[in-house]
Formats: sequence, structure tokens, C-alpha cells
Amino acid sequence: MTDKPIWLAPSILSANFAHLADDVRQVLAAGANVIHFDVMDNHYVPNLTLGPMVCQSLREAGIDAPIDVHLMVSPVDRMIESFAKAGASMISIHSDACDDVESSLKKIKALGCQAGLAISPGVAIDTVQTFLPYLDFILLMTVEPGFGGQSILPNSIGRIQELMVLLQGYPSVRVAVDGGVTLANVGELVAAGADWIVAGSALFASNDIKHACQAFIEAIEKAKTS
Ligand code: DX5
Ligand code: ZN
Repeated sequence: MTDKPIWLAPSILSANFAHLADDVRQVLAAGANVIHFDVMDNHYVPNLTLGPMVCQSLREAGIDAPIDVHLMVSPVDRMIESFAKAGASMISIHSDACDDVESSLKKIKALGCQAGLAISPGVAIDTVQTFLPYLDFILLMTVEPGFGGQSILPNSIGRIQELMVLLQGYPSVRVAVDGGVTLANVGELVAAGADWIVAGSALFASNDIKHACQAFIEAIEKAKTS
């Protein structure tokens, strides 16, 4: 069980892009802590989403909450530079999308952002071990990267528990879970050790985004104290 505040990070992949800044303001007003920003390139994953200009536009629209950029692109280095310049606060990369993972993580940090390693379902958890000294967080994918609205994979709790063992000497490294998180499963993810909850469709596809965020925050608090 974590003693860190647990962050709720709505994934704007499921927001309405015709009024993105308004959707972002709504989740922040409802208590969300971080904005999760999924970047897909139709190469590393078979989908195409948002570039650095959209991140910059959110900053120019006055969004000052942390923006957590999840890069599902290859190669990564040019995008790290562009997103850091566009106002990203955190940047995560997938190890199999990089030529040199350590150098890309160092680049993220040198540009003033928090650095994360994203781990897809088919990637062994102990892949993180070598990179722990350079990491602020791990983004544990609980679905295959590429699309929102999928169901969480059944081995997710076991993978979080495996990761928590590796992280014993690294109390400051956060564990974000990304994909298929719902009100029904968020409690067990937190109980297993996740301290950063990414959720897209469960929040933005709701008829009442504010209420959906508040229900998530309540479920997180409940799991934390039980
Ligand atoms: C999937 C993305 C996720 C996704 C989460 O590749 O990384 O961030 O948007 O969406 P839901 O919560 O709908 O699974
Ligand atoms: Zn993501």
C-alpha cells in the first residue's frame, strides 16, 4: 500500500477534440491531478492521434496542470524534444521503440520533464530493472497500446505485484496503470500498488464527466484506507 497521494490522470484520447480544453477543465475542476496525453504515430501503433501542437494549445489555453505525454511512437528522440518544448511535464517511452533507452530517458530529464518507461503487456516486468536509476515512473500498460475503450487484461494485478517487488529499493518511483481502468477495478489496482490511475473512456464517455471523476476519486480513497 502506498503512502503517496494517488493521482487520477484522465486520458484525453476519449475526450471530445472539438472542445478539448473545456473537457480538460472539467476533469481538473472535478479533482483530477494530471492530464494523460496519448501520442500515436500509425507506425509504432496502428492509430494516429495528437502531436505537440495540441499540447502547446492546451498550455496557451491556460491549462497549467501536469501533462503526462505517453509516446507510442518510434523513433522517440525528436518527439521528446518537441513535447518538452510544447509544455509536457512527464514523458514516457516504450523500450522497444527506442534505439537507446537510457539515453532517451536522460534526454527527458535533461529537458526538465519527469521520465517514465511504458511497459506493454508482452514485455517482461524485469525489463525496468536496468533503467530504474533514471526513472520517475513506470507506465504499466494493462491493455495493448493503440486504442482506448479496451477491457483490462486479466494478468494486470499479478504484473503490478511483480513490479512492486522490483521497486522495493526505489520508493520515489511511481506506478501508473493505463488501459481498461473502470470504477469496478480501480480499487484492486490501487490495493496492488498503483499510485497513478489513467482512465479514458470510463471518464470521458460518461454522461456526467464530473460525477465520473468524483466517483473514481472516492473509490481510490476507499481502496487506500481499507
Ligand atoms: C492506450 C492508451 C490509453 C487509453 C486508455 O494505448 O495508452 O491511455 O487511452 O483508455 P481507456 O481508459 O479507455 O482504456
Ligand atoms: Zn496512454
